[in-house]
Amino acid sequence: MTEDDVNLEARLEEQDTFEPPESFVEQANVTDEGIYEEFEENWPECWEQAADLLSWDQEYDTVLEDGNAPFYEWFTGGTLNASYNCLDRHVEDGAEDRTAIEWEGEPGETRTYTYGELLEEVEAFAATLRDLGVEEDDVVTLYMPMVPELPIAMLACARIGAPHSVVFAGFSADALATRMNSASSEYLVTADGYYRRGDALDHISKTNEGLEDVDHETTTIVVDRLGDDLDHTLEDGQHDYEELVDDNRGESVEPVTRDAEDMLFLMYTSGTTGQPKGVKHTTAGYLAYTAWTSQTVLDLEPGDTYWCSADIGWITGHSYIIYGPLALGTTTVMYEGTPDYPDKDRFWEIAEKNEVDVFYTAPTAIRAFMKWGKEYPERHDLSSLRLLGTVGEPINPRAWKWYYKHIGGEECPIVDTWWQTETGGHMITTLPGVNAMKPGSAGPALPGVDARIVDAQGEEVEAGEAGYLTVQKPWPGMLRTLYQNDDRFIDEYWREYSDPDADEWVYFPEDGAKIDEDDYITVLGRVDDVLNVSGHRLGTMEIESAIVGVEGVAEAAVVGGDHEVKGEAVYAYVITEDGYEGDEELSEKIVEGVVDAIGPIAKPEEVVFTPELPKTRSGKIMRRLLEDIASGNELGNTSTLRNPEVVDDIAEQVQGD
Ligand code: PRX
Repeated sequence: MTEDDVNLEARLEEQDTFEPPESFVEQANVTDEGIYEEFEENWPECWEQAADLLSWDQEYDTVLEDGNAPFYEWFTGGTLNASYNCLDRHVEDGAEDRTAIEWEGEPGETRTYTYGELLEEVEAFAATLRDLGVEEDDVVTLYMPMVPELPIAMLACARIGAPHSVVFAGFSADALATRMNSASSEYLVTADGYYRRGDALDHISKTNEGLEDVDHETTTIVVDRLGDDLDHTLEDGQHDYEELVDDNRGESVEPVTRDAEDMLFLMYTSGTTGQPKGVKHTTAGYLAYTAWTSQTVLDLEPGDTYWCSADIGWITGHSYIIYGPLALGTTTVMYEGTPDYPDKDRFWEIAEKNEVDVFYTAPTAIRAFMKWGKEYPERHDLSSLRLLGTVGEPINPRAWKWYYKHIGGEECPIVDTWWQTETGGHMITTLPGVNAMKPGSAGPALPGVDARIVDAQGEEVEAGEAGYLTVQKPWPGMLRTLYQNDDRFIDEYWREYSDPDADEWVYFPEDGAKIDEDDYITVLGRVDDVLNVSGHRLGTMEIESAIVGVEGVAEAAVVGGDHEVKGEAVYAYVITEDGYEGDEELSEKIVEGVVDAIGPIAKPEEVVFTPELPKTRSGKIMRRLLEDIASGNELGNTSTLRNPEVVDDIAEQVQGD
């Protein structure tokens, strides 16, 4: 490091508040801090601002319908189509030749779709889906890698009023089957494979394996991504994407008018139990909210080139690669592969080449960039960047400052956006042209969002004290229910802090948090049994049930341990059945079992065999203790355990490595 670097590091180290750069504020979409008061005084009508970003077939008559809380409805009486809002209206406004999607494959080829071309592709695929029998309200599952056919399929579904259910391509065959069965989804769009670090990965075999466990007839469309790099044969009920679409090129498909509250999509996410939750998002509220937050938080404008490096298989990709940016008419960048192939500067090469204005990624990626070193971004001209964002997990101040300095060149504000699959869009973050930033703290709740930190009794805690994050007023992007499971919806999110008798409903996202004197919220992490591995949400119960499904395993407890890049890593503590050895072979089988049931993202970092799990006198597993062992923390008092002697044994195994 040069002396200048050292001085700068020292200065950054001490600084805990950063004002947004003047150059950013001058051009920002929102600069008036009066927006907070305006939204508060004019709630819920303030959300008309979001609805005004959309084109309606029929205007809504009520902003918020709260007669049947917590089954809130937004913009009722209105009708619209999401694909029309993301495509046709921009073409009608003369933006036909503006780039909608700039795609890059991992091997380096690119595809550019203008708004006009994307509309044509979407219409051709919408016609294809109809030909195959897809009707309004049929759930279409999309099990696809990051290829342009994925957004095309999403928008085609939206066009004909068929909700999509995207299943992350990294998930296993089992995960696909569970989700298709749960949604009674009879249509599947998939791909033969995709490229990862130079290899052609087979995806179709996994798809076929999953389809064997689907308990109803299915029709499948297969995108040929790999060409000669992977031969595949189509089975009965399977069709080639390109062949079908070619027959429908030039077809025009009128966008179906959808009710504001009609389902736009389903997205499965992990919860406390082994069964994933089907989060239901509807057309108007979700689209209005993602468009509004894209404009206010990500500061997007139609002329911008914007890149969110998430996978569309997660909510971030839905809201902030596809729906929000395209509703605003922005150019959105999509990349198929990993950030370190062929070299660790791949992201910065893409950012430079496309002159990306706004870049949005996850803290886990930033930690990896930090580890690789600043020389990689330094190889590229990143001066086109004007705003940076992060999402998915808490970002520590060191990683924040590295991102600020080495990617943003100290000229880009950073928005640390807290939100969830369930919230549809951003909830807690600074407004980049309004608020100062405090590294490590997401920021204040957005205007119109009533976030409060409470204790176990639901009373607000003092500034600086840790408590539970709650949201005490509804918002347009909120989930409407869990698919075909209203009871679980109430149990999971509303039971804890609401007072149904008084018709007072409080949303509980199951995160811990604290708030400071300036109302900045620092999110501390999940308080349920859900892990956040590389920004991916994984239920410990799901992993445990995969492990106990392995022959020779009697009991398992899964917890998260600190990890330098992943944030949290999966630690599995396993008791074997009598007659089985806790050896390398069983350990491998366990890892395999988890990969088969969920996917490689859930792979245990370590499998620890133990004759017993530490339990309280009432028989509850002491997870906190297992977490401390995994993270290498000092172990507190263990005398309240029924079996304190096992703790040292386990700790020695894990920490002795
Ligand atoms: O624990 C919070 C964490 O990610 C959870 C939501 O995960 P998921 O539904 O998969 O959505 C991720 C992308 C929106 C939250 O309950 N989380 C998300 N963003 C942040 C965060 N934790 C701290 N800071 C954030 N900015």
